[in-house]
Amino acid sequence: MSKHTVLTGITTTGTPHLGNYVGAIKPAIQASHGDGVRSCYFLADYHALIKCRDPEIVHRSTLEIAATWLALGLDTDKSIFYRQSDIPEISELTWLLTCVTAKGLMNRAHAYKAAVQENLDKGEDADFAITMGLFSYPILMAADILMFNAHHVPVGRDQVQHLEMARDIAQRFNHFFGEHFVLPEAVVDDNVAVLPGLDGRKMSKSYNNAIPLWLPEKKLRKSIMKIVTNSLEPGQPKQTEDSSLFAIYSAFANADQRQAMKKAFADGIGWGDAKQQCFELINGELAEARATYEKLISDPVRIEKRLQQGAERAREITVPFIRELRNAVGIRKLV
Ligand code: TRP
Repeated sequence: MSKHTVLTGITTTGTPHLGNYVGAIKPAIQASHGDGVRSCYFLADYHALIKCRDPEIVHRSTLEIAATWLALGLDTDKSIFYRQSDIPEISELTWLLTCVTAKGLMNRAHAYKAAVQENLDKGEDADFAITMGLFSYPILMAADILMFNAHHVPVGRDQVQHLEMARDIAQRFNHFFGEHFVLPEAVVDDNVAVLPGLDGRKMSKSYNNAIPLWLPEKKLRKSIMKIVTNSLEPGQPKQTEDSSLFAIYSAFANADQRQAMKKAFADGIGWGDAKQQCFELINGELAEARATYEKLISDPVRIEKRLQQGAERAREITVPFIRELRNAVGIRKLV
């Protein structure tokens, strides 16, 4: 049996926000300190190319996301932290998998289907502006996962279908060429908070309602002051249900703090006061890491070194494994 492996990827587009922090980064970093599993975290920069054709954004975002994970205390001794594009075996595996993947399976991918539907709704050709990158995206993701024979893959709900596809692809490869791949499973944690944004909808870059993770203190405060509330005055009791401010506060609070805020709402705390407390809580949690982040981001050489060390460790796994896989499909020396 191969060592129990947990793996997850982070697409390098955009700047991390509080929703990413609460929903994905923080739980992953906590998990990275655990023993007994091999955990792999990687910057999915090839995935970024599917959505983004601005080289500066892809490049900058890789730096920011790497600095974020390191500043927040990712344990890179216990886990393997690397950049996808530093592992050429992943691209190589992508082709081996592409050759066993049914086109019909890819036709059913939600993200692809949604893009087609959007075209049709607008009266465009079904294929308008759809690249093969978008279409084949689940195969690249399967290669990310199968390359390390990951057992568990923590992801958001929107990625569950991609995991099913990875299993399907692994099964087909195993069927044709022997048992090489573990069948991976998605792990969706329903307990992690889905953070609302400034306007109450899910915090997301695409809704323009996100609070960036590394705002300087003053700007963070300003941004929190913009969380939408209602027109109740100080002294009037307030509901915690449906309050984005309460939800955001809660995501950072311990049980006692949450209880106290709940009581303050019932007692009619003013929105300004509640927001100030929310700012202090979040700022308290992030201030130290923010200083580390700022130091790191101004020292890309150091980050690059950490990524190279990660790649080296990753390739101790991928280089022999791709040799085995090439051999299995008949790509090998003549004699
Ligand atoms: N597609 C994932 C996302 O958008 C990111 C990702 C790429 C990933 N490769 C992966 C996640 C492999 C888990 C495993 O969130």
